[in-house]
Amino acid sequence: MKEKAKQTLEERGLTRRDVLQKAQKVNNDEFYTCYEDIEKELSMYDKNIWKNKVIFCNCDDRKNTSPFALYFLKNFSELGLQKLICTHYGGSLDLFNQGAKGYIFTKDGFRELKEYPKGYTGSFDHPLSLKILHEEADIVCTNPPFSRANEYWRIIIESGKKFLIISGQTIPVTPAFIPYFQNNQVWAGYNRVDWFLTPKKEKTSNPCFWYTNIKIKNRPRYRYLKIMPLKDIPEKYKEYDDSKTLIVNNCYIPNDYKKPFAIANHPIFNGILEKGYKIIQDKQYFPYKNGKKGFGRVLVQKI
Ligand SMILES: C[S@@+](CC[C@H](N)C(=O)[O-])C[C@H]1O[C@@H](n2cnc3c(N)ncnc32)[C@H](O)[C@@H]1O
Repeated sequence: MKEKAKQTLEERGLTRRDVLQKAQKVNNDEFYTCYEDIEKELSMYDKNIWKNKVIFCNCDDRKNTSPFALYFLKNFSELGLQKLICTHYGGSLDLFNQGAKGYIFTKDGFRELKEYPKGYTGSFDHPLSLKILHEEADIVCTNPPFSRANEYWRIIIESGKKFLIISGQTIPVTPAFIPYFQNNQVWAGYNRVDWFLTPKKEKTSNPCFWYTNIKIKNRPRYRYLKIMPLKDIPEKYKEYDDSKTLIVNNCYIPNDYKKPFAIANHPIFNGILEKGYKIIQDKQYFPYKNGKKGFGRVLVQKI
């Protein structure tokens, strides 16, 4: 068994030292999604959205073991998919030199992409990956690298394709992403995702959420919004900052307040932007209390 493993490393042009050196570079991008989280989220959407569609998993780098690939393969016929394309990143963090690869699954079987351009990295922003995105994909679905979230979101949103992806929970109050929520180009999916697997298959926590531009039906999380007259909001959940801007917490939302007020990310997960409120500025809002800076929020207003 040991001999076989050694041969495999040699075959891949690696020594144990190479692997250890690469492992040291593994950063917080190497969080793998738990299969149950994919099942829990994807089963919420109307089944018709998948029919005859080409699904593109463009950050799915564990050959035959990407939980996204597994989900779509397992449900290929039931969802009526036309094709599943997975591309695998072979960058500096490709621990075992699986290499940059692409796989195509149809109802007739599986094949690897036939020809790779010279220097293909498998990166979601490589020209070949972009060609698949623009010319073939209908729905993009993955958990992209956290360290490349800005570029990933820009590319996916500019492509105009449908998507369903996992990213960090602070995204809705982070400057680069606020305009997407403000312009209704993206909204929260149904579920939060808190636990991932490390390359050693150990559970590790990282607060994330699903984000999408696919229709959400009767969002169950509406029930967490506490929309009521300002006077009924408990004192401890409303305050005014140094510039007299109202700040509300714990998903309390005033329904008789005409001016902008500041909220954190949870009301956005719970669908406040679908309940007659809009984000009114495309950047973070930092409240100051007695000169002390609070954490970044967004300013919303009743439409
Ligand atoms: C958060 S992990 C998720 C992996 C897998 N999609 C899953 O859900 O289990 C993100 C993956 O993207 C890979 N990655 C890093 N940079 C990439 C790039 N430029 N293009 C595509 N994938 C990349 C990382 O190596 C990592 O395995």
